[in-house]
Amino acid sequence: MRKRVAVIHGPNLNMLGKREIGIYGGKSMEDINNDLYAEAKKLGIELECYQSNVEGEIVTFIQQCRGRADGIVLNAGAYTHYSIALRDAISAAEVPTVEVHISNVYKRESFRHVSVLAPVCIGQICGFGPYSYILGLHAVLEHKVNP
Ligand code: DQA
Repeated sequence: MRKRVAVIHGPNLNMLGKREIGIYGGKSMEDINNDLYAEAKKLGIELECYQSNVEGEIVTFIQQCRGRADGIVLNAGAYTHYSIALRDAISAAEVPTVEVHISNVYKRESFRHVSVLAPVCIGQICGFGPYSYILGLHAVLEHKVNP
C-alpha cells in the first residue's frame, strides 16, 4: 500500500509570496505544494496538502488523519508557539508528525523560540526556506518507531 502523508499549513501561510518576503521568500503556498506533489510522485506516495487560518479547523483535520495518514508534516505558523489544542490533537491522532518552519525561528524573536508542539512531534526542521517542507516529507517517511 502506498504511504499517505498530509501536509498542513497553518495561519497566514496562504499569504506566502506576498508576506514578509525578506523572511519567507517569494514562493507562494501553491508553489510549495506543487513542489511537494512533484516530490511525492517521485517517492511513490500519496500526498494531501491542507491550509487553514482557524485553529479548530486544523484540530479537526489532524483528528481526521488518525488511521488515515502515515505521517503529517506540520507548519502550524504562530500556533506553534502557544496552541495546546494543536498539541493535544497531535497526541490524540497518533500519527508521526514533523514540525517544520520556513524561517529559522531561533534567530528571531524570543517568543518564537518556544514550541509547545515539539514535545509531541518526532522532530523539528526549520530555517531551510520552503525546502524545510521537502526535508520534513523525507523525515516523516524515514521515521521508525524504534530507531
Ligand atoms: C513560521 C514561523 C512562525 O513563528 C510564524 O508565526 C509563521 C511562520 C515559519 O514557517 O517560519 O507564521 O512557522
